[in-house]
Amino acid sequence: MERTYWYKDAVFYQIWPRSFKDSDGDGVGDLMGVYEKLDYIKSLHVDAIWFSPLYPSPNADYGYDVMDYMDISGEYGGMEAFKKVLDGAHQRGMRVIMDLVVNHTSDEHPWFQASRRREEPYTDYYIWRKPKRDGTLPNNWDSMFEGKAWQYDEERKEYYLHLFAIKQADLNMDNPRVRDEVKKIMRFWLDMGVDGFREDVITFISKDKDLPNGFFLMPAAKGITHYSNGPHLHEYLMEFRDVLDQYDCVTIGEAPLVTARRALQFIGGKRPELDMMIPFQCMEGDCILIDYVHHPFSLLKLKHIWRHWQDALRGRGWNFLYLENHDHPRIISRYGSEKYRVESGKSLAASYLFQQGTPIIYQGQEIGMTNIRLKSIDMYEDVQTINNYHSFRANQPEQKRMERIWQATRESARTPMQWDDSENAGFTEGKPWFYVNPNYPEINVAAQEDDPESLLNFYRRAAELRSTLPVVRYGTFKMYYPLSRKLFVYERRSKAQRLLVICSYSPDPVKFRAPRGYDLKKGQLILRSHGDKVENNGFVTRPYETRVYLFQDRRGPVEV
Ligand code: NOJ
Repeated sequence: MERTYWYKDAVFYQIWPRSFKDSDGDGVGDLMGVYEKLDYIKSLHVDAIWFSPLYPSPNADYGYDVMDYMDISGEYGGMEAFKKVLDGAHQRGMRVIMDLVVNHTSDEHPWFQASRRREEPYTDYYIWRKPKRDGTLPNNWDSMFEGKAWQYDEERKEYYLHLFAIKQADLNMDNPRVRDEVKKIMRFWLDMGVDGFREDVITFISKDKDLPNGFFLMPAAKGITHYSNGPHLHEYLMEFRDVLDQYDCVTIGEAPLVTARRALQFIGGKRPELDMMIPFQCMEGDCILIDYVHHPFSLLKLKHIWRHWQDALRGRGWNFLYLENHDHPRIISRYGSEKYRVESGKSLAASYLFQQGTPIIYQGQEIGMTNIRLKSIDMYEDVQTINNYHSFRANQPEQKRMERIWQATRESARTPMQWDDSENAGFTEGKPWFYVNPNYPEINVAAQEDDPESLLNFYRRAAELRSTLPVVRYGTFKMYYPLSRKLFVYERRSKAQRLLVICSYSPDPVKFRAPRGYDLKKGQLILRSHGDKVENNGFVTRPYETRVYLFQDRRGPVEV
């Protein structure tokens, strides 16, 4: 199949279905809710939607514990509703990609049920081990979500490996039958017309077969060096590539802790295993190793990470750009300012939307949703949040522990989407499955829809601009003023166009002067958060001010 690489021109939108829009009043988002909102999604100049898992699931990890890979959960409206959404998206020129969660299944998956009874051919579908001679666990690995990575099964009288929740049993990818199942799943969705996959923790699928003890000191990750980027990973991904090559589809790999150099092992070269990798490091602007060690937000650090990925992948791999997803708290609450919510939201948006690569917007990001702060841990639902609360800082005062949760929980990204100022933010007519952020009367889609200065319309304009400016797709990236702790300034340059993006991360006035070679008066101010005044080839920024200038070089050759 001839590939068109359509994703290189696309803007993606991520839907975490449980919290997007409920159509039937049961308090849980569903696919008919998405169907109602397809025109809204299209209005953001979005070209593709990634759905977090829609499969039947007992929801120990909200869909990332799959019970049936070839069906759609009844909670979400079943297969019929999915096909309607798929067709509706395609009719509007939007593609649809699914979450492929094949590192593990739910323990309620029929494969697991058969495996624990040693029914063939499922006996070796999972990673089973006997207790050690002294009765202890097979090794010292941690689970990311719940204690140790081994759970004893009374029926089989063995332990099974679970790198995540107890109800998420790791598949044994070394078994060729399991890999065949994965290929079958891929074909099933691609034949139906789905346009690709986001591949969940895909770099964990090949484990060191001796399962040696781990030594990694980071909490909840002992053993990681023996299962991340394991011995057969590239081989297995190439097997999957053989299937993917028969379709004009895209793959986005999720790889916790991935570096740019490592990412190129997957997305570089003549026949890459995957098309893009999620660059986790851009989530480390206020912490080390994602959630574990927190520090105040550092623009310098974030700029360094952004520049590093842009430079490292230049000409070698395609970037995937994001600020939010269902696994991280809201970005304005982290890297921006809740006080200057709209302004900092715009600065963050322009900071990433014009970089080289394919950007994705997460539901609610476009209206500037912020973190929720629930009073007590009992009000949270997420397995990882609850585990982090109980396992880290256990001897600290309650208030401190809760502050850490407010800062770091991914559940802040999972509150219902805020559509309007009616009860429950217009998300449901029933009782929402999870708390609606009390700021919804102020922050909602309806309030921003017709306001030309809203964050929502800023996102729309930015996404539209991307698709009309070849320099965003083809241009080089250069960062100016790398040592500024308050400004992020970068250029995209091609033969015929230059783009200069200026983003302040400060509530205070900052003096900006255009870099050498730029005459701001000759540029076209194509996107801005505040004013347009220029003095001495620069300006003094207002809080979190953002400007994007376009320079056309008429002497240059016409862009292709
Ligand atoms: C990564 C997913 O994004 C996250 O939500 C999930 O909990 C883990 N993988 C386990 O599947």
